[in-house]
Amino acid sequence: MSHSDTVSIILAAGKGTRMKSALPKVLHPVGGLPMLGHVMRAAEHAGLSETIIVVSPEQESIKSFVTHVSSTATMAIQQQQNGTGDAVIAAMPLPAHIKRAVIMFGDTPLMRPETLRQLAGSKAQLTVLGFTPEDPQGYGRILLSDNQTPVEIIEHKDADEELRQITLCNGGAMAVDREILDQCLEQLNSNNAQGEYYLPDLVKLAVENGYSTGLVLGDVHDIMGVDSRAGLSKAEAVFQNRQRRHFLDTGVTLQSPETVHFSFDTTIETDVVIEPHCVFGPGVSIASGALIKAFSHLEGAQVGNHAVIGPYARLRPGTELADGVKIGNFVETKKAKIGLGAKVNHLSYIGDAEIGAGANIGAGTITCNYDGFNKHKTEIGAGAFIGSNSSLIAPVRIGDGAYVGSSSVLSGEVEADALAVTRAPARTIRGWAAKFRNKNSKGN
Ligand code: UD1
Ligand code: MG
Repeated sequence: MSHSDTVSIILAAGKGTRMKSALPKVLHPVGGLPMLGHVMRAAEHAGLSETIIVVSPEQESIKSFVTHVSSTATMAIQQQQNGTGDAVIAAMPLPAHIKRAVIMFGDTPLMRPETLRQLAGSKAQLTVLGFTPEDPQGYGRILLSDNQTPVEIIEHKDADEELRQITLCNGGAMAVDREILDQCLEQLNSNNAQGEYYLPDLVKLAVENGYSTGLVLGDVHDIMGVDSRAGLSKAEAVFQNRQRRHFLDTGVTLQSPETVHFSFDTTIETDVVIEPHCVFGPGVSIASGALIKAFSHLEGAQVGNHAVIGPYARLRPGTELADGVKIGNFVETKKAKIGLGAKVNHLSYIGDAEIGAGANIGAGTITCNYDGFNKHKTEIGAGAFIGSNSSLIAPVRIGDGAYVGSSSVLSGEVEADALAVTRAPARTIRGWAAKFRNKNSKGN
């Protein structure tokens, strides 16, 4: 369901000092995607197509990330970080057609679309996301009326011992009608322990002004905010477990799931087998029946049906492998299009290359693609055979069915079905080694 009159407001202006990083907190990646990107995706998948991201004035890198990934998200600048309520004020006024907002934080990368959808679609005029953490320390506590609707949220720092016994905590995200924002935001004040404008204070103001409130219960992971490197690694662990579970549920064999790392956008079809210790960087898709052997590293690569990769293979961006391709141990590919059933089985570098169907690339073949200034292309025809330890100095084109003798160093063009060899003839000097040994061992 799309909520065309609902905007998502993502708060990302916080400093994130505990990350001890030159990179703004929300740009730290989880599963290869900045945390902010996860939150934006969750909002989009929840049917919230309009997004306002609140950033601080100096966060240029956040602005360029947002414009890079979304053509529709807009940015609002919060001049000073005076609290979550103040951050929402920075996103005002909302576009005229907007009737409701779902407010969320940019540092909660595990927020699920289902949870946001529940918030967006909730009946109450203001709905908060509640949860019951193992340790409620630090969270705002939600006070409920007799009929279990939120009446107020008290921040941990402002709560006395009795209030701190409350286990229902504020998850941070909330859905709120425009009317409430228009009327109540300006009534927020900063008379509290942190001297900040608290967004959760909106609950009490909404109740006082006669609006209805509601509660959606989320799970701990939806809420899990990242404030430190330790938190980031925890979020990464949860994310990886979700991905592993997802692939196991969709028909992928993971022989040792806990050793395999995926990215946010990894796609794997059914009946793919993945051996232990493989890493899938961003932009990888694996077609049905492929086998990825142990210790392989893939990024920006498409792997065809029943292809066999590794062990110890490295597929870099721009690798496109057709069905049945074999890439063996210690082979690196980059911007390489490899045709049906072709084999590159041992110790090769194949970059800026196109290899035809059924070609066989011998052990140690290197495409010499870079001259220090430019990259040049290697083309190898269908059914060609490249002997071991050949250096193909690009630009080079090997015709269909041609043979390149082992250890050749080639450039230019080899005709179809021809043999090209550049190997120097061997010279044998009888007895030379014995004489050499004699000469050098005298006097020892
Ligand atoms: C907030 C809630 C708390 C809740 C908890 C859940 C408030 C006052 N408290 O506390 O009730 O239990 O989340 O994790 O809201 N931000 C800005 N501008 C600011 C301040 C913050 O954009 O001036 C952004 C931050 O970048 C962050 C988010 O708002 O993404 C939350 O801020 P944070 O300081 O982490 O709030 P908490 O103290 O965790
Ligand atoms: Mg926080």
